Amino acid sequence: MSIDGTGWRTTIPEAVREGRPTVWRNPRSGRAAEILPGLSFDRADVEAAEARWRRFDPLLARLFPELGTGRIDSPLRPLASHVAEDVAGRAGARVWVKADHDLPVTGCIKARGGLYEVLIHAEMLGRAAGWLAPKQGYARLAEPDVRAALGAHTVAVGSTGNLGFSVGVIGRALGFEVEVHMSHDAKAWKKQRLRDLGARVVEHAGDYGSAVAAARKAFEGRADAHFVDDESSVDLFLGYAAAASDLRRQLAAAGVIVDAAHPLCVYLPCGVGGAPGGVTLGLKLLFGDAVHCILVEPVAAPCMLVQLVAGTHRPVSVYDIGLDNRTAADGLAVAAASMLVARTVGDLVEAIVTVSDADLFAWLRHLWLQAGMRLEPSAAAAFAAVGPACAALPDLARATHVVWTTGGALLPEVEFQAALARVA
Ligand SMILES: Cc1ncc(COP(=O)(O)O)c(C=O)c1O
Repeated sequence: MSIDGTGWRTTIPEAVREGRPTVWRNPRSGRAAEILPGLSFDRADVEAAEARWRRFDPLLARLFPELGTGRIDSPLRPLASHVAEDVAGRAGARVWVKADHDLPVTGCIKARGGLYEVLIHAEMLGRAAGWLAPKQGYARLAEPDVRAALGAHTVAVGSTGNLGFSVGVIGRALGFEVEVHMSHDAKAWKKQRLRDLGARVVEHAGDYGSAVAAARKAFEGRADAHFVDDESSVDLFLGYAAAASDLRRQLAAAGVIVDAAHPLCVYLPCGVGGAPGGVTLGLKLLFGDAVHCILVEPVAAPCMLVQLVAGTHRPVSVYDIGLDNRTAADGLAVAAASMLVARTVGDLVEAIVTVSDADLFAWLRHLWLQAGMRLEPSAAAAFAAVGPACAALPDLARATHVVWTTGGALLPEVEFQAALARVA
């Protein structure tokens, strides 16, 4: 679709413009076999990212002994049948949780990209400085002399919170200086958590997009610094994409068949789009048309929906249609989607569901009371999407559903209690 000027706004569904929850089925969604060959990334790129992750495992095991093997992954857990039926709104529903809210070290999905990109930067510096001889194990990068040398380098990022934390955790563990630029809506405890790690936090009066833009500008051309670009980094994107093979392995181990007769629906909370988009690409490369990826956005910040409806020839934002990008789901408070992601997975995403803050708090509380899951609001959004998606897309209602819970385990108790109290 190519609409110039402001004409594209009239193509945005009324419910989206009015900030009402809705299910938007992506008319561009097509057959994987036709779309995947035309993309800039292929299976070899994602497999290379997986192999690279495995090379980092010994280093991660050294830095974070609680990881054991060094592999960063989360469990896949089934929901009890009565909870699954509540979530999907139909009897006999099968719902699994890909529990990234419990991801070790960071308790959020953004580690899959953030850790990966900082590790790649350390690897690059290590090779250039001769710390990593051929066949040298990467645990060498945790030695005190390397750590001291990395202290002369900065890693920087603009973030709503969880990417900044992920970059902060790994950056500080490796000895880097870390600078995180954060938006006005970033939670105070997320800023404090970064300061406690020894990271520098730069606060911006504007939104997430302006924090990213300011950070990008501040680090332009700095040879002693690396900027992790949440909006356009290929490394971040492929770091997330590598998660798909973890899910495939876990589904196979649990005896869950995924094929044309047994479709899989995966629900992914979407902010700028990197994490859900990367996972979508990875899953499509593995499962093709048998997997249906459904993104979930707050009613006030449906940036990917707006971008895909408007077409990906030029960026648009939720402000352009009068929405205010104000949501308690801080990780999803993004006004303009990543164009890299929109262009890559725009034809692979099955649907986008928008959810109200009231609904995501209701699900946050429900999942705590019924399943003992400690979620942050952004992650609970995915649960709010399953019932509406099953009702609106009846052809998928009998699928196996996987809700990707993207964050929450490290939420401070006081924050969690406040979130629970929002419902009462
Ligand atoms: C908990 C949580 N879920 C989902 C997302 C969305 O990820 P992305 O911004 O890459 O779309 C974020 C982003 O920070 C997040 O913090």
